[in-house]
Amino acid sequence: MGLLLRSLSMLVILVWFFRLPVLRAQSIIAPSARSAHDLDVLLQDYAYRAFGRHPKTGTPFDGKVPSNLTGINISAMRLRSGSLYRKGVPMYKEFVIPMGVSEKPYVERLVLVYQNLGNWSMRYYTVPGYTHLTPVLGLLAYSASNLSATLLPELNITATRTPILIKFPDVQSAPNGAVAKCAWFDLKGLVNINNLASVNTCSTIQQGHFSIVVESIAPSPAPISPTPSGPPVVEGKKNSSKVGIVVGSVLGGLVLLALLAFLVLWAQKYKNRKKMQQMERAADVGEALHMTMVGNTKAPAATVTRTQPVLESEYAP
Ligand SMILES: *[C@@H]1O[C@H](CO)[C@@H](O)[C@H](O)[C@H]1NC(C)=O
Ligand SMILES: *[C@@H]1O[C@H](CO)[C@@H](O)[C@H](O)[C@H]1NC(C)=O
Ligand SMILES: *[C@@H]1O[C@H](CO)[C@@H](O)[C@H](O)[C@H]1NC(C)=O
Ligand SMILES: *[C@@H]1O[C@H](CO)[C@@H](O)[C@H](O)[C@H]1NC(C)=O
Ligand SMILES: *[C@@H]1O[C@H](CO)[C@@H](O)[C@H](O)[C@H]1NC(C)=O
Repeated sequence: MGLLLRSLSMLVILVWFFRLPVLRAQSIIAPSARSAHDLDVLLQDYAYRAFGRHPKTGTPFDGKVPSNLTGINISAMRLRSGSLYRKGVPMYKEFVIPMGVSEKPYVERLVLVYQNLGNWSMRYYTVPGYTHLTPVLGLLAYSASNLSATLLPELNITATRTPILIKFPDVQSAPNGAVAKCAWFDLKGLVNINNLASVNTCSTIQQGHFSIVVESIAPSPAPISPTPSGPPVVEGKKNSSKVGIVVGSVLGGLVLLALLAFLVLWAQKYKNRKKMQQMERAADVGEALHMTMVGNTKAPAATVTRTQPVLESEYAP
């Protein structure tokens, strides 16, 4: 019974051991979230520079990025809040903005800043376990009350009727059997993975950054060791931590299974050895043993003829 207790406490310790890295992974904030926010701040400034003195509303103006960010495209469009709500924007680059989009806090005029991060996407937006099949596109809203302003806070825009659609023109094909998903990076640096709305199209009811992603081919599983190195920094929430939980529980389950099997074998061996010792002792003393369990077979033991019971081995072949 002491043995049982010891193995039970061992199990509890093991379960905790495998739960801990998973719990920790869930609370890790994206390491690139800060620099991604800094990039937003910089791109807002450069996008606003595309406006002339009296920019036409509802017209996109393409901006220039500093030379250290070549490969990123930006654009800015000034809109009256009422017009955005009543009419939407049929097509703003890859974004289809339906009617019913409102902003918080309310402003009379706002600017929608568009970002196409091109070959910089991986630098600023990564999801462990996933690969981008498209560049990351951003749609952010700011107040238009001062077109020279920098360090502006983002406005929250919300699609109240039908979602905003993002139609990706060029999507790399997903590897065999892999399912493409939509990634939405919100402004807090969290990523949400969802199904495509339709072919090459994602949907959102809020501002943020978007791309189509696919799960990377998993690396071959590392051998189970008592000190697993922690999973790579998990910046994605929900699904990627779900993956972490699944992987963690599978690994934990395997170890528990192996441990259980080991325990059962050990206990059996222990039992058998005890029986054998008893039989040997009995035989030595010459005590009459009638039918005795030897292993799993009944064996006549210690009759008057004093024939020794024959133990072939501890295990049946
Ligand atoms: C790029 O250059 C701009 C202005 O020249 C600077 O403010 C910014 O920090 C630089 N960004 C990076 C990522 O190097
Ligand atoms: C950025 O714009 C240029 C010129 O319009 C275009 O040639 C290029 O493909 C665009 N880059 C991306 C990443 O879409
Ligand atoms: C993206 O491509 C441009 C040239 O088109 C290059 O100057 C830039 O360094 C590239 N960015 C990254 C992150 O590789
Ligand atoms: C607009 O913002 C710029 C930069 O922050 C500032 O210098 C300027 O005074 C502002 N203009 C108005 C009218 O608030
Ligand atoms: C924008 O929405 C986020 C949650 O999505 C919230 O935390 C934040 O306070 C909102 N900001 C404003 C100005 O309403």
